[in-house]
Amino acid sequence: MSLVSVEIPLDERSYFIDIGEGLLNDLNANRALPKGTSALIVTNETVAPLYVGKLQDALKGQYRAVHTVILPDGEEYKTWQTLQKIFDALLENGADRKAVLFALGGGVIGDMTGFAAASYMRGVPFVQVPTTLLAQVDSSVGGKTAINHPLGKNMIGAFYQPQLVVCDLDTLDTLPGRELAAGIGEIIKYGPIYDMEFFSWLEANMDALLQRDRAALAHAVKRSCEIKAWVVGQDERESGLRAILNFGHTFGHAIEAGMGYGAWLHGEGVAAGMVMAAELSKRLGMVDEAFVLRLRTVIERAGLPVRGPRIDADDNAGRYLQLMRIDKKSEAGEIRFVLIDGPGKAVMRPAPDALVRDVIDACCD
Ligand code: NAD
Ligand code: GLY
Repeated sequence: MSLVSVEIPLDERSYFIDIGEGLLNDLNANRALPKGTSALIVTNETVAPLYVGKLQDALKGQYRAVHTVILPDGEEYKTWQTLQKIFDALLENGADRKAVLFALGGGVIGDMTGFAAASYMRGVPFVQVPTTLLAQVDSSVGGKTAINHPLGKNMIGAFYQPQLVVCDLDTLDTLPGRELAAGIGEIIKYGPIYDMEFFSWLEANMDALLQRDRAALAHAVKRSCEIKAWVVGQDERESGLRAILNFGHTFGHAIEAGMGYGAWLHGEGVAAGMVMAAELSKRLGMVDEAFVLRLRTVIERAGLPVRGPRIDADDNAGRYLQLMRIDKKSEAGEIRFVLIDGPGKAVMRPAPDALVRDVIDACCD
């Protein structure tokens, strides 16, 4: 399989996403790495034993010194305290302004490394080396970096673009099945918001994706990155259009925070959240029942949840609404949902609380 590249077009901050096999073995074979005095690999205790040796070997000839910091694994560690460990490693190793950070892992590592790169000495270069499907199709691309707050997901962060993204499809071989499915959740969203042809392709190729067929995975990563590149190229800082990438996320983030970070995977929250957002779209007369059923079916086939959990025993809908009001898209406490205005087209709208309550009641266990 040959290397495929997708460009994120952002003028002087443009960069490539390279997608292929065996890329970790020879990271600079295809493209020059950012120049720098030293490299810091940021990874976690699960990914390190699998891949850090390869990355260290690949970087040794490129930088005077290569250091590694290994963080605890899990969404519950996407915090200030863990971020501090990256700064500790940088300072303890005497990293200067020409240090280059490498994020080796899933979205949690990518988001935290990006935030550290944005703020260390007011900004140093970084490279994303995503090793989950979710990170390859979404989180490593586009420059959103963040940590969580107990009251809200990804509430503290920065827009800060990497200089390169390297998606080595070989790394997906070791991904647990539940994580693979979570990644498929983020892939599915690109259909309803923008590309129903891709959605039909997903319907036809779901089994191949679940069996980790290389050609199917390569196509899904490439098409997802192309769509994301198109969106980010027009609206890097989410002044409008980029919000469509958050289809399902308003409900999904409430699930993640409401259940306690790590209990539901991000992609699982997004999956159930997409069904809820589609149901809300239907009740607002924007799509029909057949569309909601089609979306629910493909999500179910991926092995993902199609119903939300109860996050409060007494007032479940009230708790969802409370958490969703903290969403970054909210304005003056008014929740703005990404809704589907006909298959393939997303819009952002508020909705009456009473209707949202009905949807939550209908779509939660
Ligand atoms: P994750 O980073 O927690 O990774 C999932 C699990 O897989 C972890 O246990 C990890 O250690 C393990 N893992 C990673 N690579 C592996 C491999 N190759 N083999 C075996 N195990 C491996 O979760 P994720 O789903 O990658 O990312 C979710 C995070 O991404 C959330 O915090 C979410 O908010 C964020 N996100 C950010 C953006 C963005 O635009 N910045 C977009 C979507 C999601
Ligand atoms: N994952 C949503 C975004 O990048 O905007």
